[in-house]
Amino acid sequence: MECLCEKAERTASKKKLVVLTGAGVSAESGLRTFRDSDGLWEEHDVMEVASIEGWRRNPDLVIEFYNQRRRQLATVSPNRAHVVLAELEKDFDVWIVTQNVDDLHERAGSTNILHLHGQLTKIRGVDGSNVTDIGYGDLKPGQTDENGVTLRPHIVWFGEDVPLIETADRLVREADIFAVVGSSLVVYPAAGLVGSLRPGVPAFLIDPGEVGIRLPSNFTVIREKAGSGVEKMREYLSAYVVR
Ligand code: APR
Repeated sequence: MECLCEKAERTASKKKLVVLTGAGVSAESGLRTFRDSDGLWEEHDVMEVASIEGWRRNPDLVIEFYNQRRRQLATVSPNRAHVVLAELEKDFDVWIVTQNVDDLHERAGSTNILHLHGQLTKIRGVDGSNVTDIGYGDLKPGQTDENGVTLRPHIVWFGEDVPLIETADRLVREADIFAVVGSSLVVYPAAGLVGSLRPGVPAFLIDPGEVGIRLPSNFTVIREKAGSGVEKMREYLSAYVVR
């Protein structure tokens, strides 16, 4: 049987790799990004379906939008990028900070995941209480919990605080290596995490497109889709494995 103390020592000696992911990491699984030319915000008004004002105006529309997202999530699978990020746990203390509300990092096997913008597979009371799993099922308009509190998707909408941002910021400050995969870096506070990186920390950006901020010089830019880009990053990372 493996000794737990040895395992803890190995984790402690591994370098901390913090990976900020966005919609692009799930694109090759068949989930559309938000801001690409075929993105979700081309078809839906973001302020109608993903803001707290939109929820107050028309909760049924918002519920239906997230019901559709959940139904679709049930039909897709993790892609190569999710899988390689999970495999990197063998050699690194990997922390995934994701803006995505899908569960593809979990299904690929990553174990340390911070969902900055919430999770599709969960719902909660409008008063913040009672976060529960809904899986890939539908939330019914007007549905309440056993205490009569109206239920809503467990999603951080525009106009709401991002409760996990301080935890994410601390992780980025502690990072020995950092990567951004598939995010336009236009939405704050998530995009601002790049500014918390210690100077000189090796960093990677994997994205076939342009991003919304000027990157510091320590970034290696891999202009590829997430699957092949993360494979390429793994080759670079072999130089940082503690043996
Ligand atoms: N592989 C990697 N990156 C890709 C791929 C791909 N196959 N396809 C597209 N991309 C890149 C795009 O070039 C873009 O830079 O993914 C990025 C997607 O950007 P957005 O659509 O803006 O998604 P994201 O950055 O995750 O959005 C942030 O905005 O709407 C809100 O809450 C929502 O979490 C989301 C946040």
